[in-house]
Amino acid sequence: MADFSNKVVYQIYPKSFRDTNGDGFGDIPGVIEKLDYLQELGVDYLWLTPFFPSPQHDNGYDVADYCAVDPKFGTMEDLEELIRQSEARGMGLMLDMVFNHTSTEHTWFQQALAGDETYQKYYIFKDGRPDRIPTNWQSKFGGPAWEYVPALKKWYLRLYDVTQADLNWDNPRVREELKEILRFWKNKGIKAFRFDVINLVSKPEVMEDDFLGDGRRFYSDGPHIHEYLKELVRDAGIEDFVTVGEMSSTSVEHCIRYSAPEEKELSMCFNFHHLKVDYKDGDKWALMPADYQKLKELFIEWQIQMQKGHGWNALFWCNHDQPRIVSRLGDETAYWKQSAKMLAGMIHFMRGTPYIYQGEEIGMLNAHYPSIEQYRDVESLNYYQILLKNGKTEREALETLAARSRDNSRTPMQWNGERYGGFSETEPWLPMSAGFRNEITVEAQQNDQDSILSFYKKLIAMRKMYPVIAEGEISFLETETDRVLAYQRKLGEQQIVVFCNLDGEKHTVKADGDWRGDPVLLENYEARQMDPEGETYTMEPYEFMVLGKV
Ligand code: GLC
Ligand code: CA
Repeated sequence: MADFSNKVVYQIYPKSFRDTNGDGFGDIPGVIEKLDYLQELGVDYLWLTPFFPSPQHDNGYDVADYCAVDPKFGTMEDLEELIRQSEARGMGLMLDMVFNHTSTEHTWFQQALAGDETYQKYYIFKDGRPDRIPTNWQSKFGGPAWEYVPALKKWYLRLYDVTQADLNWDNPRVREELKEILRFWKNKGIKAFRFDVINLVSKPEVMEDDFLGDGRRFYSDGPHIHEYLKELVRDAGIEDFVTVGEMSSTSVEHCIRYSAPEEKELSMCFNFHHLKVDYKDGDKWALMPADYQKLKELFIEWQIQMQKGHGWNALFWCNHDQPRIVSRLGDETAYWKQSAKMLAGMIHFMRGTPYIYQGEEIGMLNAHYPSIEQYRDVESLNYYQILLKNGKTEREALETLAARSRDNSRTPMQWNGERYGGFSETEPWLPMSAGFRNEITVEAQQNDQDSILSFYKKLIAMRKMYPVIAEGEISFLETETDRVLAYQRKLGEQQIVVFCNLDGEKHTVKADGDWRGDPVLLENYEARQMDPEGETYTMEPYEFMVLGKV
């Protein structure tokens, strides 16, 4: 088993990271250019979202060829250079394997369309009439989950876009093909994999209407999922790799099985429950203020249960599908810096492996686009229409997108204060965030000891310095308000205690544990101390404090 408890992963969305040839589209040479920056940050793995040939209907998550580089991103030689240069700096590449579906432009699907039955069996085709959809399941991007092909008189399943056809994992030939792809990348020197929506790949044998929901209860953590994962990892020879599965609408019980070392499935799991606490009735497109009680309960449940079951969490707030966390749970103006640091620290000291999404380390904000023309994301554009159809005004629909769109995190990386943030010399494929300001750039923060960027460097360095952060046992402290989260980690004689004020108001905590009087290891306000004599301690807005004996 790979040891990943003291590692940190940095996620790169290459399309928006750095454009070196002036076409407004980020590229692999752009990643190479920034390797020194990433090494200095101190991260261990670079997760690259898909750069494979793709029609880009879902920004590369619609893969047309798993073993090549899309010319928009560069060449295979560029990628090999990136692998070499990352390795020379002590970093490994993590590739993003989109194995639930392929692009409809993939040769497998094209051959299926041309009538080849061997390839039709690679997908989930159902015979039928155009007026008889096989089930009432809904696509994750809105609308029905099935598409009709008149020439074949068949429907095919597509849980995402119509150009993303779900693969049939019950066909052993499909599973062999996927193993072959993993071996190909392993031979190239890839060290880690992220598996896209991997818990959706095992579909039920009988497909029936869902009268209680959108169908997800039938195919999430499906019947053969654990068996298929074990087989894939074993046969592809990647047992020693760092692997992370993206788990959609999953349960802690399943995630224990996915990630407990004795199961030999994956190293760790992403789950999204903590990022739905501001969804009204579980609906991403219905706005609601965050439920902090729920947020706390979810962290406590997942941390404690995964620990009990020997599971391992991927710790994260941000990725290419989520709005920026400072805009969401922090404060974009008065407490921008404090809230960004507090949110970072809150998850970095937990039990699991932290993930940093590009721009998070400088406190980047949501896109704040004033018009629909600025959006590119297929899900956002679909839901904009759905919201209008459901009676929302244009303004309301735009407000919802401003809070929920995936484009919030996909705006170009802000390297410096130039017009296009040093991302490109030309107009980028997606407009800059309207929240772009000079202090939210790498250039402004890299020599400032008090910056968000410097704080992230400290968090990463501390995980490597103090085994209690990587390996310690976690327990949570009781607090009187749902706006404060506090926890303790212990390993032998070492211990730390972490206090996070999630609120823009002050809150008081009891200062009465066995940690009382321990020195401050890290904080986000200058020269704050917990009075060793006092019974209570009053936290400033978004204050973050770590005490410890390490
Ligand atoms: C995952 C990806 C997302 C993509 C979807 C379909 O959720 O993170 O970007 O749209 O899978 O591949
Ligand atoms: Ca480019």
